[in-house]
Amino acid sequence: MEFSIKQGSPEKLKGGCVVVGVFEGGKLSTAAQIIDKAAKHALSEFIARGDMSGKSSSTLLLHKLPGVAAERVLLAGLGKASELNSKTSVEILHATFVALNATAAKDATLYIVDEGVGKDAAWVVKQAVFTAAEQAFRADGMKSKPSKPATLKNITFATLDKPSAALKNVLDQTAATARGMALTKELGNLPGNICTPTYLAAKALALGKAHKNIKTTVLNEKDMQKLGMGSLLSVTRGSEQPAKLITLEYHGADKKQKPIVLVGKGITFDSGGISLKPGAEMDEMKYDMCGAASVLGTMQAIAEMGLKLNVVGIIPACENLPSGRATKPGDIVASMSGQTIEILNTDAEGRLILCDALTYSKKFNPDTVIDIATLTGACVIALGHVATGLFSNEDNLAKELLAAGEQAHDRAWQLPLWEDYQSLLDSNFADMQNIGGRAGGTITAACFLSRFTKDYRWAHLDIAGTAWKSGKEKGATGRPVPLLTQYLINRAAAK
Ligand code: BES
Ligand code: MN
Ligand code: ZN
Repeated sequence: MEFSIKQGSPEKLKGGCVVVGVFEGGKLSTAAQIIDKAAKHALSEFIARGDMSGKSSSTLLLHKLPGVAAERVLLAGLGKASELNSKTSVEILHATFVALNATAAKDATLYIVDEGVGKDAAWVVKQAVFTAAEQAFRADGMKSKPSKPATLKNITFATLDKPSAALKNVLDQTAATARGMALTKELGNLPGNICTPTYLAAKALALGKAHKNIKTTVLNEKDMQKLGMGSLLSVTRGSEQPAKLITLEYHGADKKQKPIVLVGKGITFDSGGISLKPGAEMDEMKYDMCGAASVLGTMQAIAEMGLKLNVVGIIPACENLPSGRATKPGDIVASMSGQTIEILNTDAEGRLILCDALTYSKKFNPDTVIDIATLTGACVIALGHVATGLFSNEDNLAKELLAAGEQAHDRAWQLPLWEDYQSLLDSNFADMQNIGGRAGGTITAACFLSRFTKDYRWAHLDIAGTAWKSGKEKGATGRPVPLLTQYLINRAAAK
């Protein structure tokens, strides 16, 4: 899908469809007024007849209006101007693209920027690109007869005044972000028998091949053994698939600039191990590598943008399966940090692979480390499927990530990392145990990680509720690629 932005008059633009807004009560947006005038008040007539009320998210498709060059005009209901907010704006954009995709138009020109269908022009453009890309995404490539690709190929954002260079830049960056999300979704949706640790490593190596400023290296189990990653290796023991530790180094700035490190949980299937999960919906544990997939999507996006920043992606990847060799509840292992861990539940495996990857991160002398993980079911209970759980050992970093989430409409919500929770991880036999009980399960998981991140500024994103959808619309969402990419864009701009 191609996106562009240009200045133009709505009645003169040729093409498949031009989209203009109508407010509740039938008040026409400026672009709609221009079309109405050119079409001898045809729009006013449709409104007077009651075919279009301007109700939020309603649409009306019109063909061959006299005096209008485009083949179609789509009226998009904007509701009351005073009631436009992030939720209604996204709904309006969704309804608009559903209506566009129901036509045979190959291209569309949208007048939604000037009129403020959302917070500001940049915000609207971003959400429109994400919505268009989401609806063009196909998840059925493994069916013997996959569905047809979307007909709609070219989206133009049109403005009445000359669009700023900054807005054009936002558009290009968002298109790259959307392609990163598509990669994240594709990988997330792949089943565990295809998307193995080796497969993830191959994808990371391919990213390194495709972008000359990305260098990928892959460590095997022997290498990890030498590094003393006893915690990570304890998770892969039950699996026949070899574990991989994948590193992608993106150099967009001076070599001396400290990198931002992204660490993504890459459990390609989480059965729970000996602490076996119940059977219902266990298939969804193929999504337990969505943190890893979001790192790959974000790395691809920033490489396409040529962001002036150094970023390292680290992906610990393995399966969590039961077998005669598998780690058992009660087993004690030594992590790379030297701290020992009593594994009371083999299903709390994400923290066990992340802790060694977090210790390994120090090697890159990081400015900031952010880990991304489908870590706890408790996070889904706490925040549902709307917000990602956020923890940080530095409040300023938390604020920056929360703000980036708002800007990209890929929001997070901060939870406490207070000392008061740490004692829940006390063990009689080792330095800590890997679970803290049912109460505050998301927080104790973050507390566990915090014991390995004392030497640098760090944040943890628990994406268990936001990385994929269940039920009829089952599929990966591509989150939190928009949040991460926006944060990195902001960091690059601040330099
Ligand atoms: N990958 C799961 C977390 C998860 C569960 C994500 C459901 C999304 C939906 C993680 O490895 C896990 O199993 N966590 C356990 C931790 C518990 C044993 C302390 C959980 O959340 O039940
Ligand atoms: Mn688990
Ligand atoms: Zn897991």
